[in-house]
Amino acid sequence: MSKDLKTSSEHSSVNMSHDELVSEIRRLAREKNAVIMAHYYVDGQVQDIADFIGDSLALAQKAAETTADIIVLCGVHFMGETAAILCPQKKVLVPDPTATCSLAESCPADEFARFVQQHPGHTVVSYVNTTAATKAVTDVVVTSSNAKQIVDSLPQEEPIIFGPDQNLGAYINSLTGRNMVLWPGACHVHARFSVEKILELKAEHPQAKVLVHPECKGAVVKLADKVGSTAALLRFAINDEAQEFIVATESGILHEMQKSAPQKTFIPAPPDDSTCGCNECEYMKLVTLEKVYRCLRDEQPQVSVPADVAEKAIVPINRMLEISAKLGI
Ligand code: 13P
Repeated sequence: MSKDLKTSSEHSSVNMSHDELVSEIRRLAREKNAVIMAHYYVDGQVQDIADFIGDSLALAQKAAETTADIIVLCGVHFMGETAAILCPQKKVLVPDPTATCSLAESCPADEFARFVQQHPGHTVVSYVNTTAATKAVTDVVVTSSNAKQIVDSLPQEEPIIFGPDQNLGAYINSLTGRNMVLWPGACHVHARFSVEKILELKAEHPQAKVLVHPECKGAVVKLADKVGSTAALLRFAINDEAQEFIVATESGILHEMQKSAPQKTFIPAPPDDSTCGCNECEYMKLVTLEKVYRCLRDEQPQVSVPADVAEKAIVPINRMLEISAKLGI
């Protein structure tokens, strides 16, 4: 393991209270002109110190436009890679480089490249939850916020490969009437939601509306009052007149939902293999305040993407950002 890839356990722990950690993080960020960005799935304490919280699309958009010298990306590794590809002149730090993504891991670049070769003439649409190397064999990247609109922007007769999330791909097929060829990957968190558990919750809370991320299985998506990215589910929860919501996505989003709409009730849908509890991504939860502090202090671990990979991967990322900007997403 390189110096850059030290895990948290290899660092000595810092002896500071929560308040001291927060004020040290803020001081370091100010002094180093660093911006702290966080995905909605990381721990609430980390979300609370972030300068910006967003879904995958918003994090990429924000990274592309920031004037900070350092970006601290609190999320999983592909998010740091995307920021590093978009900002080659900046230092992109991730508090824990072992925080990977099961979807990205499910789609190794060499296997995906072979899959692409087996489907000549297909446009390759990849979910942002991929490694830089997989993006390098992609024509256009999408996130759950813009996948439908970007697929719609491609000519109807154009054959498409969609990877790596087969649930999102099937959902987009159902919305667009396409027959995209799907890579058989899935998010280990979203794949765990079950119809039975959500119906049990619905029986206990008949007034509750059901919010579902499109990475969930089709049968779960069918139960939804609203299907959308984390940011779209948050907006719906704030603006809708309902007072209770059953939330079928990673439970970190409940932190911002509860903060934004404190008078409403948010009930996390549990995974299918438990009798209680919420469905958490253990990789997102590797990002702690202490690690944010250490990575800002030490300016490592830094994300670096090999130049030849970055040169290819930036093309489909920029294509996504350009189409999104044109469509006002
Ligand atoms: P969004 O951020 O697009 O909602 O997707 C969630 C996700 O998969 C994060 O890894």
